[in-house]
Amino acid sequence: MPLGSVVPHGSALFNDDFVLTTNLSSLTLNTMNFPPEPFRIKTVERIRRTSREEREQFLKQAGFNVFNIPSDAIFIDLLTDSGTAAMSDRQWGALMQGDEAYAGSRSFQRFEAAVRDITGFAHVIPTHQGRVAENLLFSTLGKPGVIIPNNTHFDTTHANVSASGALALDLPVEEALHPALEHPFKGNMNVPALDDLLSKKRTSVPLVAMTVTNNSAGGQPVSMENIRETSRVCKKYGVPFFFDCARYAENCWFIHQREAGYENKPIIEIARELFSYGDGCWMSSKKDALVNIGGFLAMNDETLAQTLKNKLILIEGFPTYGGLAGRDLEAIAAGLYEGLEPDYLDYRTGQVRALGDMLIAENVPVVRPIGGHAVFIDAKAFAPHIPQSQFPGVALTVALYREAGIRAVEIGSLMFTEKDAKTGEAKYPELDLVRLAIPRRVYTSSHMICVAEATVEIFRSRKTMRGLRLTYEAPMLRHFTARMEEI
Ligand code: F0G
Repeated sequence: MPLGSVVPHGSALFNDDFVLTTNLSSLTLNTMNFPPEPFRIKTVERIRRTSREEREQFLKQAGFNVFNIPSDAIFIDLLTDSGTAAMSDRQWGALMQGDEAYAGSRSFQRFEAAVRDITGFAHVIPTHQGRVAENLLFSTLGKPGVIIPNNTHFDTTHANVSASGALALDLPVEEALHPALEHPFKGNMNVPALDDLLSKKRTSVPLVAMTVTNNSAGGQPVSMENIRETSRVCKKYGVPFFFDCARYAENCWFIHQREAGYENKPIIEIARELFSYGDGCWMSSKKDALVNIGGFLAMNDETLAQTLKNKLILIEGFPTYGGLAGRDLEAIAAGLYEGLEPDYLDYRTGQVRALGDMLIAENVPVVRPIGGHAVFIDAKAFAPHIPQSQFPGVALTVALYREAGIRAVEIGSLMFTEKDAKTGEAKYPELDLVRLAIPRRVYTSSHMICVAEATVEIFRSRKTMRGLRLTYEAPMLRHFTARMEEI
C-alpha cells in the first residue's frame, strides 16, 4: 500500500457476515507507523475465522467470559503477551542442544552465563515461571507486619506478598493515575513517598521492588533517573532493591528513546546500567526473553540465594533446572539476547504504538502514552452508559469477540472490585480498562489494522453495547471463572 493511503473501507479483513460500515478516513498507513517486521516467516500456524452465529454460540457457552472460549475459536488472541511469543529459528535450534542432565547441565551453564552477563548478579536460580520466583522470595521475606513497596505490584506479585501476610504497597507517581495524561515515564516510583516510608518504618521493609515496565500502570516505563533515585534511597536506609524485570528490555528501549544521555548507548549497556542499581531481580521469561515458559531469580546476596535454592528443591527441582527442561534454559539464554536487539525492539514497540495511534486517530479513549506491550482502552470513557456495576470492560471484550473474533482482557470492575467484609458493599476500582496485549513476533500489521477497525466500529455504535450481570462468581480471583449474562 502506498504511503499515506487510506485503508479501504470495508476491506476484506473480516468474514462476509462482518461487513464494515465505518469509513476510517483518518486511518492512514505510513512506514513511520509500522516499522517493518525484522524477520521473515518460516513456519505458520493456522487461525480460523468463525461465523457470527458460531461466535454467538461460544459467547453463550462461555458465560460471556472470554477466558472460557477455546483458543481454536479465536481469530486474534490479545489476552496476554505472556508465553505467547514466536520463537526464532535460533531458539528452536538451541532447543535441540538442551542437556537434560538432572544436575550440572551444560544448558544451565549457558543460561546462567546469559543472565549474569546482562544483569551482573552473581547467583542465578531458574524457576518455571515468574510467580514461582515471587513465591520463593516473598514466602521467605514476607510475614505479617512486613511491608513490600513497589511502583505497582502486578497481580501475582500482590497475591504472593499478601499470601505471606505482608502488605503489598503500591507507590506509583501521581501521573500514573490519569489515563489521558501524556508523560514519558508514567511507570516511575514515587521516591519521596518511599523515602518517607523508610524513614518511619525501615525495620518493616525487607526489600523494595520495582516493576519494569510497570504492567499494572499500562505497560509504562521507568526512567533511569528514577531507578537511580530509588536505588539511592534504598542504600540510604540499607534496604535491598529488586527488579521485577519481566519487560525490562522494553523499558530499556523507552529509556533509549526518551531519556537524555541514552540516545547512543547500546540497549544491552542500558540494561546493565539499570541492573547495576539493584541487588537482585526476578523475571517472568515468558515476556522479554521471548519464550513460552520460564523464569528466574538473580541476586548478589549469597545467604538469601542459598535459602531460596533450598526451597526451590522442595517445590520446583534441583538448582540447575528449577522446574524447566534443559532445552527451555537454552531457549531463554538465546531469547534474552534477541529481546535486546534494537531492530526487534523498534518493531515491537512500534507495532503496539501503531495500534494505539490508529485508535487515538479515531478518538477511542486509551491510556496514554501507549505502553510497551499493550494498548489499554478506558472502558468507562468508551461506554459511559454502562455503570461499573455492569462491567463496561467486559461488555467491550464481548463486543470485540462478537464482532471480529478478537480476545482481549478486562482489567477493571470484574477483576478488582472489593467487597466490604461487613456490609457487602462493592468498592469499584478507579480505572476500568480493557487490555489489548500484543504477543511478540506473532501478528502482522494487517492483524493490527483488523483490531483497530473492529474497535473503531464498536466505538461508533457503542450505544448498543450492553452491560452484564454475574450468574456465578468464585470467592477469589473471580474474573477467571465468572459466568455472566447480558442485561
Ligand atoms: N510480574 C509481571 C510484571 C507480570 O506481568 C507477570 C505476568 C508476572 C510477574 C508473573 O509471571 O505469569 O510467568 O508467573 N504477567 C502476565 C500478564 C500473566 O498477562 O500480564 P508469570
